[in-house]
Amino acid sequence: MRHYSFSDQLCLNADHLLRFLAGQNLPTHQLRENPAKNIAESELSVTEKKHISGLMRVNYTGEVCAQALYQGQALTSRNIETKQKLEQAGLEEIDHLYWCQSRLQDLNSHVSVLNPIWYIMSFILGLTAGICGDRWNLGFLEETEKQVTKHLEDHLEKLPVQDHKTRVILEQMRDEEAIHAEAANHAGAAELPKIIKLLMRGTSKIMTKLAYWI
Ligand SMILES: [Fe+2]
Ligand SMILES: [Fe+2]
Repeated sequence: MRHYSFSDQLCLNADHLLRFLAGQNLPTHQLRENPAKNIAESELSVTEKKHISGLMRVNYTGEVCAQALYQGQALTSRNIETKQKLEQAGLEEIDHLYWCQSRLQDLNSHVSVLNPIWYIMSFILGLTAGICGDRWNLGFLEETEKQVTKHLEDHLEKLPVQDHKTRVILEQMRDEEAIHAEAANHAGAAELPKIIKLLMRGTSKIMTKLAYWI
C-alpha cells in the first residue's frame, strides 16, 4: 500500500474538498450501481418534488459531512488499522454521495450552498476526534452513524409513498450506516459522554433545517 506523507494527505483532502462541495466533478469511478437505476419515476406533484429535493439536499450534505469527518479522523488517527478502516469507509460512502446527487438531478434540484461551511466544521471535528485517540475516534464514528441511521428512518417516513426511487436509495443508505455503526462498535468504540451526543444532535438539527431550504 502506498504511504502518503502528512503534506500529501493535506493535498488529497483539498482535492476531495473541491470535488464534493459543489455536487459536481465527483470522481468518475462509481463503485456500486445506484439502487434506483432501474426503478421507474413515479407521478409526483410540484410540492412533492420540492419536498423530496429538500430531503435529498439534506442527505447530500450529511454525506459531505461524513466525508469530511472520515478524512479528518483518518488524518490524525495514530493507528494504521483504524486509519485504513476510516479511509475504506469513506470510500464506501462516496456511493451515497453519488446516489443523493443523482436523485437531486432527476428532480432538477441542487445541492446546498452551505456545504463548504459544513465540510470545514466536520473536518475540524474529525481531526479533533482523531487526536483524542482510537477508542474515542471510533466512539465518535459509531455515534455519528447511529444518528444518521435514525435520521434516515425519519426521512423514509416523510417520503411520499409512491416515490420508490428515493425510497430504495434511503433504505440502502440506512442499512449501510447501521453496519458502519456496528463495525465501529466491534472495533472497540468508547461510549461518548451524553453531553457530546446532545451537542452532535443539536448541530445536525441545525444542518438539516438549513440544508432542506438552501
Ligand atoms: Fe453515508
Ligand atoms: Fe456511514
